[in-house]
Amino acid sequence: MTTTIAIAGKGGTGKTTLAGLLIGRLAQAKAGPILAIDADPSSNLNTVLGLPLEKTVGDIREETSEKARANLLEAGIAKRDLLDYEINSSVVEGVDVDLLAMGRPEGPGCYCAANNMLRAIIDALADSYPWVVIDNEAGLEHLSRRTTRDVDVLFIVSDATVRGVTTAGRIAALLDELNTKVGRHYLIVNRAGNGLSPELERAIEQNGLELLAVLPDDPLVAEFDAVGRPLVQLPADSALSGALEPLVATLLSHTRGKEATGAHHR
Ligand SMILES: Nc1ncnc2c1ncn2[C@@H]1O[C@H](COP(=O)(O)OP(=O)(O)OP(=O)(O)O)[C@@H](O)[C@H]1O
Ligand SMILES: [Mg+2]
Repeated sequence: MTTTIAIAGKGGTGKTTLAGLLIGRLAQAKAGPILAIDADPSSNLNTVLGLPLEKTVGDIREETSEKARANLLEAGIAKRDLLDYEINSSVVEGVDVDLLAMGRPEGPGCYCAANNMLRAIIDALADSYPWVVIDNEAGLEHLSRRTTRDVDVLFIVSDATVRGVTTAGRIAALLDELNTKVGRHYLIVNRAGNGLSPELERAIEQNGLELLAVLPDDPLVAEFDAVGRPLVQLPADSALSGALEPLVATLLSHTRGKEATGAHHR
């Protein structure tokens, strides 16, 4: 049984940081192998995880098309099979975490093939992983492009601003409009210095968002970033790591709930 988690939100709010740290915590909790999917074309989840990234799915797709064009495919091997094989071999294997980066789409504005591939990859690989965590690009596009389609839990990240929360509200509203199958969605307010202002609390309520966690601005994050140290190595007693506990607990209880009811993801 797989629990698929996706992270969305306005640009620069901390989606990749949160995705990476959650992956780190799930790995520490020995919750089973995790498939990390970097669905942001400007792939950088690998740096948070401290994993090398050689090839993206986009690169492989291009190479495979070129090979096909050049008739390099051996007779009898379907392009699709070769692609599946190459994608499987492009998974970067870490300890308890495997990473797949989607890379850039093939042409301006066209994500269709990339998205179909993402679905196919998740369907093919997900059974081997109890957890799939998808880091998305900023904004709302990934929803209409349907990379955030069948997810169990969506974390919508906002900074501590009314504008950020309003964007989070738009994302939540789109979930219904686009008929996505998102199990639960929660708001995470990141980099909140001194708690939430009454205005921000009102905006959260007006946008009908369920606030799961308020994460602090952690100076250690900037220290790690300055020297390119992977954020998964943040100590467990750092401000940000500690504040992630309720999220991790929610995820673990979500899975237990699914197991108890025998619900199947798909
Ligand atoms: N809680 C935090 N405390 C301190 N710095 C943070 C925190 N969360 C994120 N940052 C910093 O904010 C910047 C943006 O974070 P991140 O790259 O995770 O955002 P993002 O939402 O993934 O951005 P993008 O929209 O470009 O993908 C980074 O420099 C990151 O280190
Ligand atoms: Mg990011």
